[in-house]
Amino acid sequence: MRQEGYNFSVEVVDFGTNALQVPRLLPSMMSQYSAGQELPATPFEVNSGLTLRVAERFVRRLSDAGADAMLVFNPVGADIARGWGVRRTVGRDYLLDQPVMLGSQRIGPDLSNIGNRRSDVNWHLVHLFQPRKVVEDSVMPSYAYLFEKREVRGEGDPGALRYEGQLVTDNQGRQVMPRAAAKDLVAYLMSLRLDEPIFEAPGLVLESAEAMEVQNSERKVAESQ
Ligand code: HEM
Repeated sequence: MRQEGYNFSVEVVDFGTNALQVPRLLPSMMSQYSAGQELPATPFEVNSGLTLRVAERFVRRLSDAGADAMLVFNPVGADIARGWGVRRTVGRDYLLDQPVMLGSQRIGPDLSNIGNRRSDVNWHLVHLFQPRKVVEDSVMPSYAYLFEKREVRGEGDPGALRYEGQLVTDNQGRQVMPRAAAKDLVAYLMSLRLDEPIFEAPGLVLESAEAMEVQNSERKVAESQ
């Protein structure tokens, strides 16, 4: 998954004890907030799409006013906007793969983060049974042998596959029940997650004002030496 850049946002987690100071600062940081307006419920986003310098300044001003403010690192890019993940994928993500599934030629998408990207078990079952039912023009083969077919009785059995409220049937009009192997395969797909922030590709990294203060004072000490 590619990432084209990053930016920062600022969140207020708590107003602190000085209830008057923070509302005074907000109109200059938050376009949706004007003086005298009712305060948003915490936690809330003050601003986003900021450079580090501006975001740090906002956090510092808010924490000087007694608020608990956070700097949030946001990876951005078309793949992230599509919801494919929260950060770019890097070599280390595939380090322990055995066999290495990524490959150099492939037809289907990388499933290493599918558990985050698609968490609807039913969607996966229908997709395995009949990919074209959920993805128009899909070239993925059907894994129909992972499903048991039975004649429909009444409204269909409770465990039978349904999609958008309708019973899913095979080409002979029989209802389909996921076998244990289909359920296990989907459970495995759900377990595939690749979203931990790592050094070379930080994801959702929340930095508290205190952590920033420690870093800043360490930086000052280093600079003065
Ligand atoms: C048991 C084996 C397989 C499993 C568990 C599996 C699973 C999946 C899943 C979960 C997706 C959805 C990905 C997403 O939403 O981004 C997907 C999509 C896709 N898969 Fe597979 N797949 C399998 C085999 C294959 C094979 C053999 C092919 C190609 C010949 C293939 C081609 C595709 C394609 C083209 C897509 C894009 C969406 C679509 O067309 O349905 N898959 N697959």
